[in-house]
Amino acid sequence: MNIKSTGNISSITFIVMFGFLFYTGLHEGLLGFTYCFADTLDSSKISNKRPVDLFTPEELQLYDGGLDSKGLYLAFLGKVYDVREGAQHYKPSGGYSFFAGRDATRAYVTGDFSDEGLIDDVKGLSNEEMMGINNWMEFYDSEYVYVGKVVGRYYDKDGHPTQALQDALAAIEKAKANKRDEAEEKQIFPPCNSEWSAEKGGRVWCSNKSGGIDRNWIGVPRKLYRPGETEPRCACVRTSGPPSGSSDTTEHENRGDLDSPLLKEYPNCSPESVTCSLSP
Ligand SMILES: *[C@@H]1O[C@H](CO)[C@@H](O)[C@H](O)[C@H]1NC(C)=O
Repeated sequence: MNIKSTGNISSITFIVMFGFLFYTGLHEGLLGFTYCFADTLDSSKISNKRPVDLFTPEELQLYDGGLDSKGLYLAFLGKVYDVREGAQHYKPSGGYSFFAGRDATRAYVTGDFSDEGLIDDVKGLSNEEMMGINNWMEFYDSEYVYVGKVVGRYYDKDGHPTQALQDALAAIEKAKANKRDEAEEKQIFPPCNSEWSAEKGGRVWCSNKSGGIDRNWIGVPRKLYRPGETEPRCACVRTSGPPSGSSDTTEHENRGDLDSPLLKEYPNCSPESVTCSLSP
């Protein structure tokens, strides 16, 4: 009885030790990085299927990948990921060590890595920045193991989403819709080619691929004043056919989009010219 149970214990110990050596050996070999696995020796973790946990910000700080730390985690928009696989970036000597053990979502798009910048609040970010937040969110979801939630701004003490999370996700959806609108606008009003030189000054012109929009027409440069934007941009405007948004069969003046109220001609440039010099 005694002997038998000792035998069981030592074979379990052997399996655990073997697993430990194999696993850490693999990771150290790949990443050249060591930290203490003492509390991570359960099969659920090794098979990457940990149950989802709740962390206070203080608890999350214990996962900064340092020698005494409990692991290497970071949080993004309130979700905690195990980033061991990216240890070369997130470990204490890595280039992104300031992201470890905390939720610094805002800094991913502002590039402000000061203590005031490394925060989770995304309120007031631009559409473009919210697209960046979305891309990072998708990146962590697809590349790293999700292990839990941070109790605080984005999840309450029961792990339920807060209003702040719903607001952030709504801002991402708004940014996506805005991007779709912009893509549509670029189809109708493709950006112009442009150049500037000290001798000749500035020049804008249209071609059938300008603005990265492949098309079977060239168009003429116009200043496009977009609602909500203070500065106009140069757009290549279709000069024949029906205006965009109306069907081919409705009666029209065969002037393309030239009569759009959002457009102005460039000064000192013929309305038919495909190229316009910019007055200094
Ligand atoms: C675009 O212009 C080039 C010459 O500048 C021409 O060879 C090509 O066929 C044009 N493409 C379209 C879609 O009209």
